[in-house]
Amino acid sequence: MNCIGTDLQHQILLKILGEKYASCMVEILEEDETSVERKSCLDLGCGTGMWIIDVARDFPHIEAVAVDLIPLREIELPQNLRSEVDDINLGLEHYFSGFDVVHARLIAAGISDYHHMIDQLAHVVRPGGLIDLSEFDFYIYDINHQKVLFDGDGDIRAPWWARWMYFFRNAVKEKGGDVDAATNLHTWVCSNSLFENVAYKEHWLPIVPGLHTSQTGNIEENMKSNVLTFLGAGRLSLLGNGMPEVLVTRLEREALRELEENKILQFTRLQCVTGRRKL
Ligand SMILES: C[S@@+](CC[C@H](N)C(=O)[O-])C[C@H]1O[C@@H](n2cnc3c(N)ncnc32)[C@H](O)[C@@H]1O
Repeated sequence: MNCIGTDLQHQILLKILGEKYASCMVEILEEDETSVERKSCLDLGCGTGMWIIDVARDFPHIEAVAVDLIPLREIELPQNLRSEVDDINLGLEHYFSGFDVVHARLIAAGISDYHHMIDQLAHVVRPGGLIDLSEFDFYIYDINHQKVLFDGDGDIRAPWWARWMYFFRNAVKEKGGDVDAATNLHTWVCSNSLFENVAYKEHWLPIVPGLHTSQTGNIEENMKSNVLTFLGAGRLSLLGNGMPEVLVTRLEREALRELEENKILQFTRLQCVTGRRKL
């Protein structure tokens, strides 16, 4: 998936998640002078690298590796961070037994078999290490956190955000992305006998904030800019899937109107799973 706007997205996610790192990550990455191996962290599908750059700075003694289809920009990267260009779908064997922490966030659109990736991660992460995965499921939810359902799948009519997401989901699926990864994340990690202490959390991102007041400061304003960028990036997917431009433009215009009118609170759901590799 296109990653424009990912820096803003990173800031929003930090606020919504309420914590920079999974709780045991700090302990796992603690410097261990008795160990011959340097502690290490891998970020799969790192985008602009906001998360892994923070990690490399916060844990200067570790080796950090950022993987994506495109290299990290040559801005001043921390010296302990390496950018690698790699397609995760081609396999992760070359990373086996290499990392204490493996992180992946919002990459499912580009992953053809997420379940297989999780099974490979069980070998990438060292015994005692951590995987930390977060994905969203390409649905829109209402105020009661129920999916916004609608009739006539292929129709171009309200509810606009749910409809836009429906077409986006189909486009991502058509291109080979694993759109059901978020839904299955917890089951897949639990079903791998090499993981233990598997924990699940979900977070609700107000895509249309409605009259919702939150404890998270100006998150709604930031969310709006992020949503606009998201619509722009999704446009390429819809067009790429053969949807006529006039329909894409109409969908976008109406979704934007729904956002501007801001009458009905609507969410996307972020599902997060952490697990420890058995010793
Ligand atoms: C939506 S961005 C998320 C970026 C970052 N993880 C974050 O949370 O800000 C998805 C990223 O995953 C990368 N990606 C998708 N499929 C990939 C694959 N098969 N191999 C490597 N990177 C991939 C994309 O290039 C893109 O940078």
